Amino acid sequence: MSTNEIQVKRISNSRLSEIDFDNLTFGEQFSDHQFELRYSDGKWQNPEIIPYGQIPLYPAVATLHYGQAVFEGMKAFCYRDDEVNIFRIDDHYDRFRRSCERVCIPEVPKEYFVGGMKELVRTDKEWVPKAKFKSLYIRPIVFAADQTLGLRASKTYRFYIICSPVGNYYSEGINPIRLTTMPQYVRAVQGGVGDVKVPGNYAASLKPTTEAQQKGFTQVLWLDAKEHRYVEEVGSMNIFFQIGNTLVTPPINGSILPGITRMSVLELAKSHGMKVEERPVSIDELISLHQQGELREIFGAGTAAVISPVGMIQHNEHQITVSSNEMGPVARWFYDRITGIQHGDIADEKAWCT
Ligand code: COI
Repeated sequence: MSTNEIQVKRISNSRLSEIDFDNLTFGEQFSDHQFELRYSDGKWQNPEIIPYGQIPLYPAVATLHYGQAVFEGMKAFCYRDDEVNIFRIDDHYDRFRRSCERVCIPEVPKEYFVGGMKELVRTDKEWVPKAKFKSLYIRPIVFAADQTLGLRASKTYRFYIICSPVGNYYSEGINPIRLTTMPQYVRAVQGGVGDVKVPGNYAASLKPTTEAQQKGFTQVLWLDAKEHRYVEEVGSMNIFFQIGNTLVTPPINGSILPGITRMSVLELAKSHGMKVEERPVSIDELISLHQQGELREIFGAGTAAVISPVGMIQHNEHQITVSSNEMGPVARWFYDRITGIQHGDIADEKAWCT
């Protein structure tokens, strides 16, 4: 697809002046335009950039009933003051493609995903926050568009990309968050859809998360579905442990989302000679490592939250407390390194920036 193929209908009055870039929250304000692409008659067609706005849907649209949909979460950054960088666009596309395949959504060709996104970000480039540690969050979403209550893969789909200027994901900012396990709930099972980015995974997390928050915790520490012992994810992020001088994270086992920030942390750690292990970590192991003084740091990694330090974990009567007041040195190193590359302050040796 050449960019000429995209019809661009620009907004007549930009809403940019309504945005307070000094006080951005997460995902509540949207840029002037959206990218739209439709699938019918066996092909993706009609790529358009149009003013951000409502999309007409019938109440019978299949995605509202059976959730045949996939999304991605990505970011664009102000890069070396006067350029814009979309971070790890190819890796996000690969995951998007795998997610679509899992729920029978026809592959969105890469040239539409990447070309549409670049053109949208170019159109709304003034919406990319200039300040460090802020970004333009990019949300591609594809969903079943047939009107039917019959349970089957849709024959028509819509694909949109929208953008939102964002600040910190958690109100704690980069201060440590507090977690609790909730062994009566699970996030995902092997063979299910926990390793792809489908909306139902997030819907299923709402009740446990609300209950955790009512007890004063920020997020749930998810344990495996079979034995309720092995740590899988934290909230909507992957999790890392600094154990002695080794960085440890659970392996991608079929029920853990292969996070792009997780990949970045692992690649940076390996290329800087750190000792890294991808292996199962049980909550009992964490309790005893904490008692032995070997558990140095815990942090979450995700696109929205970047690197988010964990201050404490509650599991039954046990409390694991680490770096409770501020981000530990290992988490800080990854945070500075990743945000430095995203903003162009540190050389992009791995060609992550577009
Ligand atoms: C992301 O980190 O980009 C996500 O998609 C998680 C979402 C809950 C904001």
